[in-house]
Amino acid sequence: MTKIHVSTSVNGDPVEFLAEPGQTLLDILRDELHLTGSKEGCGSGDCGACSVTVDERLVCSCLVLAPEVEGRRVTTIEGMAQGGRLHPLQQKFLEHAALQCGFCTPGLLVASKALLDANPDPTETEVRYWLAGNLCRCTGYDKVVRAVMDAAAELRQARV
Ligand code: FES
Ligand code: FES
Repeated sequence: MTKIHVSTSVNGDPVEFLAEPGQTLLDILRDELHLTGSKEGCGSGDCGACSVTVDERLVCSCLVLAPEVEGRRVTTIEGMAQGGRLHPLQQKFLEHAALQCGFCTPGLLVASKALLDANPDPTETEVRYWLAGNLCRCTGYDKVVRAVMDAAAELRQARV
């Protein structure tokens, strides 16, 4: 099958790859670019474990065809920590013990960051609604929500 040449950026770095027309962004990230933070839980847009942003828009990378990111900016969980420093969301997930097996955690973090980038002061209800598409089978959601609210407060404080 003829492959399609794709030029994009991933976590700020220019990236080129060859993709089959039906290959997903998730497959390319994990299998070709070896960015294995994004997980495949369902492969059908139901669990959020594969969440990434494309041009700042939160998407399930299992539902995005790899050729669709031509010329766009892809950000994955690997792009969240900066200069060896954890993002406040990552730090708060640790402090609140908001993870157990960790399979859902990259997706929850990417989704939470997308929320706080758009809405720095969400209510608890808004956090719960926003994260409703990210399923966790072991931790439950209260610690996750507390971690996101705490990180939001810290980020707001840092902006003052
Ligand atoms: Fe993409 Fe579940 S693997 S939503
Ligand atoms: Fe295990 Fe969420 S921590 S699925």
